[in-house]
Amino acid sequence: MVKNASFKNATKEIVRSCIPLAARKQMAVWVNHQGWLDHHRRSWWSQELVRDLSDININEYHKFLWSNHLSYAATYEIACRFGRENMKQSRRLFFEDLNKHLTSLSVNPGKDVRSVFEVGCSLGYQLRYLETDVFSSATTLEGIDIDARAIHDGTEYLRGIGSTIRLHCADMEELEGVLEGKRFDVIICSGVLMYLDEDAATRVVDTLLRHTGVMLAFAGLAHPYIDNAQLSRSVPRDSDKSLIHNIDAMINKAGGRIAARRWGGSEQVDGHTIYFVFATTR
Ligand SMILES: C[S@@+](CC[C@H](N)C(=O)[O-])C[C@H]1O[C@@H](n2cnc3c(N)ncnc32)[C@H](O)[C@@H]1O
Repeated sequence: MVKNASFKNATKEIVRSCIPLAARKQMAVWVNHQGWLDHHRRSWWSQELVRDLSDININEYHKFLWSNHLSYAATYEIACRFGRENMKQSRRLFFEDLNKHLTSLSVNPGKDVRSVFEVGCSLGYQLRYLETDVFSSATTLEGIDIDARAIHDGTEYLRGIGSTIRLHCADMEELEGVLEGKRFDVIICSGVLMYLDEDAATRVVDTLLRHTGVMLAFAGLAHPYIDNAQLSRSVPRDSDKSLIHNIDAMINKAGGRIAARRWGGSEQVDGHTIYFVFATTR
């Protein structure tokens, strides 16, 4: 077992030092299409082939994986994401909190919320849940994601079931162009901001706040020991180099007001840590 692991590590180091990154990116995409390899091996190789990109440019590293539907993106498929029964407990909690905090602002979620926008919506399964179960009077539900395949598959599925949800393929760093002239009652961004470094994530929060009508809701990675609101800078998570941010500070910097928040520390709900921030404009 140990021999096998060190062989794998040695192979990966040799490949990285002998083959230029541009060629390894092509190999990562190619590996992902090899049906004869099991999912775990495809995922491991496509990530490991370009792992050094995370040291050069963390934003580009995550964008490369997601935009090519590589590694963890492969688990985002219609059959296992759409439907109430597939909604993860941590996300149910997020939407319950959102409902509660809107109500505390005298907003009736089922009647008063007309427009919803989701950043990093993948196939659109959360928007669909919101359309059917939470904001049943909403007439505009839109989302963007960098994963073109998820957007394509989700759009086909949603069209087939008669949903009014609209999905677009876009990078959240280019949101200003997508949102120009628009304002949404509710904007959600769950499990997404962690794929940008602190400066870029701060800019996204600022943009989103300027296009929020009533509430902007985030679910991010919780720092296991320190309340995220106390972090003086973002911290990379060891396992996948995604970032643990202080979203509270980003909202304050953008001039927003924190209406409510939840920090769960090291506690995990279906494999997710809990760090929710609900903001309004001042
Ligand atoms: C962990 S998934 C979360 C999906 C969904 N929001 C949820 O909570 O279940 C992260 C999503 O963010 C998207 N994403 C990552 N980087 C992005 C970027 N720069 N712009 C837009 N979407 C991005 C991915 O393609 C993926 O669909």
